[in-house]
Amino acid sequence: MTDPRRHRFLSAFNGSPVDRPPLWLMRQAGRYLPGYREVRAKHGFWDVCLNPELSTHVALEPLNRFPLDAAIVFSDILVIPQALGLDVTFGTGEGPQFGKPMRTASDLNAWNTKGIAERLKYVPQAVSHLKNRLNGSHGILGFAGAPFTLFAYSVEGQGSDDFRHARVLMHTDKKLALKAMQTLADAATELLLEEAKAGADVVQLFDTWGGLLTLSEYQEFCVPALQRMCQTLSKANAPTLLFVKGATHLLPVLGETGATGFSLDWRIDWRDARRRYPTHVLQGNIDPVLLFAPPDIVSNQTKLLLQATAETTSHKHSVLNLGHGILPKTPLEGVDALCNAVTAGEAAAHG
Ligand code: CP3
Repeated sequence: MTDPRRHRFLSAFNGSPVDRPPLWLMRQAGRYLPGYREVRAKHGFWDVCLNPELSTHVALEPLNRFPLDAAIVFSDILVIPQALGLDVTFGTGEGPQFGKPMRTASDLNAWNTKGIAERLKYVPQAVSHLKNRLNGSHGILGFAGAPFTLFAYSVEGQGSDDFRHARVLMHTDKKLALKAMQTLADAATELLLEEAKAGADVVQLFDTWGGLLTLSEYQEFCVPALQRMCQTLSKANAPTLLFVKGATHLLPVLGETGATGFSLDWRIDWRDARRRYPTHVLQGNIDPVLLFAPPDIVSNQTKLLLQATAETTSHKHSVLNLGHGILPKTPLEGVDALCNAVTAGEAAAHG
């Protein structure tokens, strides 16, 4: 018999009835966890990603602590620019830094696309190691960056509030921008296919910065590449979740991507999104900042979300999550309060 956690997760994607929506948290393995910080005190970030034992160890910590229904492979969206040769490092505190950002056609021509699947082999290896350790207990997510977000980091060369170099380049050299995004999309598709083959049940595309674009920019630069990606993945039976932060204005076109579902940021009203997408999977969307509030407030907000999933679709096609990644200093009590509000019914049923 399938473990109830894995069963619940898979049911959200095949439309089966569920007792409640499955729960996992974006960025659930990370600096808010003491065990993760211990590992990072001894090992570099890329070393954790590259070593299947270490990456599985940190991916399991949130599952051991909280009643989550799915695991996400421990990796990063920036593995792709790294494998293309952009020399990505994570300094202490200041976020990613690219040694070779892409600003010109000759920068793009220098990208090392040949044999990229081989250089990224450690990611599907981490998935299959995680799968072996879970032995069917939880759902498994693979992930990659969406083309625009990877492009934004690759051009800017670091994090940014506005990604101005990237967004200007889209207009000053449209051909170059589209070519770069297609190269990134191809690499991400290859990676996700390998993750699915290695045991990921579902793959998520993180378009963290897509919300910076206008509706027409998103339609022109992002939707066609996302369509090709989702179509290829769907042929390989890998359901796709698309997360676009700040996408309230983009919601009308997200359906054109062909993604199986959408991960909603915290500013989108669940019932509005559900009216627009009655049978797509919707995921989200508790404000990650709310986890810093007292437990009763976290609990009340979580119950309101559960009420929305119950009243709209009897919890079907729904995945409970945050509206963006969990923040590094999040108190564990906030995560407990969210989890307890979700599992409250089960405890009562069993006790
Ligand atoms: O459990 C998990 O979800 C962990 C796997 C994971 C990481 N990054 C590990 C990580 C996932 C799914 C990501 C996605 C990711 N990476 C995104 C999209 C999601 C989002 O939050 O918007 C983005 C934009 C990145 C790029 C990135 N990686 C940045 C900007 C940074 C530095 C700042 C930060 O957010 O921590 C990273 C490094 C990174 N990736 C860390 C972790 C745990 C922290 C590294 C450390 O230990 O110092």
